[in-house]
Amino acid sequence: MQALILAGGEGTRLRPLTIYTPKPVVPIVNRPFLYYQIDLLKRAGIKEITLSLSYKPDKISDIFGDGEDYGVKIYYAVEASPLGTAGAYKNAEEHLSQTAVVFNGDVLTDIDIAKVVAYHRERQAAATIVLTPVENPSAYGLVETESDGRVRRFLEKPKPEEITCNTINAGIYVLEPHILKYIPKDEKFSFEYQLFPSLLANNEPFFAYTMSDYWLDIGTPQRYQQANDDLINGRIKSFDVERKPVTTASTSNLSADAEPAKVDAVSVVDASCSLKPGVEIINSVLGANCVIEERTKIENSVVLAGARIGKASEIRNSIIGKSAIIGRNSKVEGAALGDKSSLTDYSIV
Ligand code: GDD
Ligand code: MG
Repeated sequence: MQALILAGGEGTRLRPLTIYTPKPVVPIVNRPFLYYQIDLLKRAGIKEITLSLSYKPDKISDIFGDGEDYGVKIYYAVEASPLGTAGAYKNAEEHLSQTAVVFNGDVLTDIDIAKVVAYHRERQAAATIVLTPVENPSAYGLVETESDGRVRRFLEKPKPEEITCNTINAGIYVLEPHILKYIPKDEKFSFEYQLFPSLLANNEPFFAYTMSDYWLDIGTPQRYQQANDDLINGRIKSFDVERKPVTTASTSNLSADAEPAKVDAVSVVDASCSLKPGVEIINSVLGANCVIEERTKIENSVVLAGARIGKASEIRNSIIGKSAIIGRNSKVEGAALGDKSSLTDYSIV
């Protein structure tokens, strides 16, 4: 078994987080996102993984290298310009001689891959697509199935009047290498609009597997926050988060009457952060080397590495980009601030 991760999209809906950082490596609870997919594949015994890249490829390959640090073998297929989902799969052809598990590089899941592969093999499918139920399918690919599990229809980004069921493409596939013949080389080509309809037209055995495990596409600021929140609250079965005790010079140097910084039981604060007296961290994630000044309160938020937040500020339901600087007595609520943002004292956002 081999795996391919489609990780070449620009991540436009996740701006501003993806201006300097490609979506596949935005940190989720202080780990680059693809770590979670690679770890899941590794645990399913799939250790040959190709990353299909296009947008800022070096920022991804610098992190994962040849995969040795992660206990897997990583190959790269880089597109000069984006070839679309199926074009990217075709472009990785030299690494895909066997049955392959293919992941959209932005879905956070604890799916049992072995079960999907067993389902695929039992039916001798050419392609198996994983489905997940969602409330509103309009942002996804709607998939209708027959009673025996065959795919009847695939409709990408359906209009409200076209919604006939609640099962959508989870962006997880098992594909046999012979279907590569339906995809032209070096041309922009899409799984969703082109390859899947042509599998149906050619009567290929194309099956759907409906999952009931955790699933989330992290591709908007709101869902990115949801992913962090779900992980720290233990809603994703197979991933633990590291909670190291935070011991900083500033908390050990307290004057007798100053209250030490408080971090609740679910928050994850990197051990290199500096939390000054009176700081309160509630249901939040703080990356490496953040400095939070006296009496600032951070709640339901993600603060990326190197951010500095002045005294007596309040940050709620927000994402604070890498190395952002926020002045004192500021209030930030429901915001997503890009890397290196700067807010003066007394800002209200
Ligand atoms: N290499 C490469 N080249 N990767 C690409 C390209 C490309 O040209 N275009 C997109 N990708 C990658 C993205 O990086 C992402 O990981 C994945 O393919 C899916 O692209 P998105 O842009 O995130 O698509 P989406 O979320 O609107 O819809 C897709 O995912 C839904 C599930 O989250 C579709 O597959 C839907 O059918 C599906 O329901
Ligand atoms: Mg997506």
